[in-house]
Amino acid sequence: MNALPKTAFIDPTGHNRAEIEALLQQAVALVLAEMTQAVARSPLPEALHSEQFEQWAQIPERSVEAAALLEVVRSHLQHSMNAAHPGYMGHMDSIPTTMSVVGDLLVAALNNNMLSVEMSPVFSRLEPLVMQQLAAQFGLGVAAGGVMVSGGSLANLQALIVARNAHFDALKTGIVGLDRQPVFFVSEVAHTSMQKAAMVMGLGAESAIAIRTNANSQLEISDLHEKFGQAHRAGQAPFALVATAGTTVTGNIDPIAAMAEFAQAHSLWFHVDAAYGGALIFSPEHRHHLAGIEQADSITFNPQKWLYITKTCATVLFKDFDVLNRHFRIAAPYMADDSQWPNLGELTVQGTRHPDILKLWLSLQHLGKAGYADIIRHNYAIATQFAKAVTARPDLKLASAPQMNLVCFRLQPQHIPPEQWDDLNAQLQRHLLTAASSIFLSLPLYRRQRWLKAVLLNPYSSSETISQLFESLDLFIQKNL
Ligand SMILES: Cc1ncc(COP(=O)(O)O)c(C=O)c1O
Repeated sequence: MNALPKTAFIDPTGHNRAEIEALLQQAVALVLAEMTQAVARSPLPEALHSEQFEQWAQIPERSVEAAALLEVVRSHLQHSMNAAHPGYMGHMDSIPTTMSVVGDLLVAALNNNMLSVEMSPVFSRLEPLVMQQLAAQFGLGVAAGGVMVSGGSLANLQALIVARNAHFDALKTGIVGLDRQPVFFVSEVAHTSMQKAAMVMGLGAESAIAIRTNANSQLEISDLHEKFGQAHRAGQAPFALVATAGTTVTGNIDPIAAMAEFAQAHSLWFHVDAAYGGALIFSPEHRHHLAGIEQADSITFNPQKWLYITKTCATVLFKDFDVLNRHFRIAAPYMADDSQWPNLGELTVQGTRHPDILKLWLSLQHLGKAGYADIIRHNYAIATQFAKAVTARPDLKLASAPQMNLVCFRLQPQHIPPEQWDDLNAQLQRHLLTAASSIFLSLPLYRRQRWLKAVLLNPYSSSETISQLFESLDLFIQKNL
């Protein structure tokens, strides 16, 4: 095997240990050089020319030196989204915990598989236990548990599949023979993964019936009554109701307790998409926002967002974990069966799966509940300062009253025609990114208008960061209005 570089694999007998060590040290040096200077790069660097990518994409005939490759990767790092920058506020993407970076490296080296217990004997046991702990934090009760999946969309999909199968007893025979169209209810600002799930489940995207929201992006119970009645009159078969705890654009929270009551009264599965807001379980001051979530049949929670775990790291939790055995499990007869521990690949849409549990477990241990409570406290303080600065300026308008660390707002000066406001906000976005403040806010379309969205996640975003942002914003207003 002459063509193979000496460091192609870590020799299990240790013969290339020195070379591997040198390579890993170079990689660590690169990580340290770039990530300890992340503040020196833009939160959203300029894109590279496409010719550069064409060149990189070529598959070489012979081995390229590791050192040369790491130099190319340096350029990749320098031009990548820079969520570590305290001015990176555009999306629910965060600087990762150090332990989750370490955890990813360790599991990559082991290369176990969450498909079955024998392929990941440690992680397949650790995951269900940690999921039980998380479910307990949500108050789901003693029969609760969950599985990890690759992202919130898959978590929502799995919850809705289980809801549908349980309601229509559809695991074996499906839904084609039903004489009534299955539908479920979500708020009009719920994440698009709800429609995707409806489409993937063969129900069609319109089966996710949108319920009107109030001025603060929270589902209106009166419209839920109305749409539920309409669905019945139209001969449809409602099977689930979904609440969102932390909407994607404004971070608002549906009236969870009232929705739980409605779901119970109408025999609907109650799912809460707490992909973002679920982190509040670790905040003694703010967890009251989740009141009612303990009544959910299932919960989506993404530690890759507000718990700062490297992507991907998402969970779907069930009040009655055994529901997966009854209404989801497809047994893999080629796997050794250990009745005490399930083969997790039989309980998730994915088969082969990355052991995301290690980085989650490491981070929970390393930061502890108190560590997360501290960060969330800080995030709220910064968000409050931010929202106050918006309301203090007559030309700015909040999209909703913030309930978490998201602030969505726009510039809408009354002396400028409203049809110019979208462009004006796009200009302000560019100004904030390129000015000395180096702030990246995103520009979502919300209620058919462009808004500026700030997600105040980064523990290194300080009160000073926010003051600089508003100085820069004031300068823009002075120059342009
Ligand atoms: C509320 C909510 N649910 C679900 C998702 C989907 O998560 P993912 O992108 O990990 O699939 C998101 C993503 O931002 C979200 O904000």
